Amino acid sequence: MAELELKNVVKNYKLENKTKFTALTDINVSFEKGELVSIIGESGSGKSTLMNIIGGLDSDYSGSIKIDGVDLKSFKDKQLDDYRKKKIGFVFQSFNLIPHLSILDNVTIALTLSNVKESVKNAKAIEILTKLGLKAHIKKKPTQLSGGQKQRVAIARALINNPDIILADEPTGALDSETTSQILDILKNIADNENKLVIMKINLLLWLHTLKKLQKYLQELLKSLMVKL
Ligand SMILES: Nc1ncnc2c1ncn2[C@@H]1O[C@H](COP(=O)(O)OP(=O)(O)OP(=O)(O)O)[C@@H](O)[C@H]1O
Ligand SMILES: [Mg+2]
Repeated sequence: MAELELKNVVKNYKLENKTKFTALTDINVSFEKGELVSIIGESGSGKSTLMNIIGGLDSDYSGSIKIDGVDLKSFKDKQLDDYRKKKIGFVFQSFNLIPHLSILDNVTIALTLSNVKESVKNAKAIEILTKLGLKAHIKKKPTQLSGGQKQRVAIARALINNPDIILADEPTGALDSETTSQILDILKNIADNENKLVIMKINLLLWLHTLKKLQKYLQELLKSLMVKL
């Protein structure tokens, strides 16, 4: 069974004077755990619309979205809330960290576990922050970090409830190219090693950059094969 399955998903925005604007026309696609998927497309092609629907932020669509075989539309309010908080981890282009909180608190605040001691919550957050190379920075405030470090904190926050799906909206949009590669490697690792479905929206330029890297890699592979032959 697919982790996430979209069938005949159509999104119409209602405009004034009873007209409508079709932003998504019959989307049919399914995703498995462990996949890293990029959503690319021109400005206005419906990427944010699709991410909002998948993230449970917009329920006004037709067609079906199934999570582990269960239709998102069958969820009651509380279930939908749990879905947004626990099943999905959101990562944003602009990090969305809370400026007056420490790095540690920015991560623990997202933890939905109730009746759990502060020390247990902190230990869980520190474990994830350590994995992302941020152990030395947990007492700092977001303004005291570099862009790549901020995005790693946001990734730690997205991972804290152990979600099955990570939705990343241009996670590298505010980063330079080297930091971009680091963040993409981290997201790839999360898909590969933690068996999560990672769906990210990236811009066309980044996609071309990734293709270039792939081309270089293939050329190198081809060279080494030719040497071997
Ligand atoms: N609330 C709304 N009411 C009416 N039309 C909308 C609304 N939100 C988005 N649209 C239209 O739906 C289409 C898809 O918008 P969406 O924001 O999903 O595009 P996008 O692919 O994310 O673009 P970008 O790359 O510029 O962020 C656009 O043509 C947009 O004008
Ligand atoms: Mg958009």
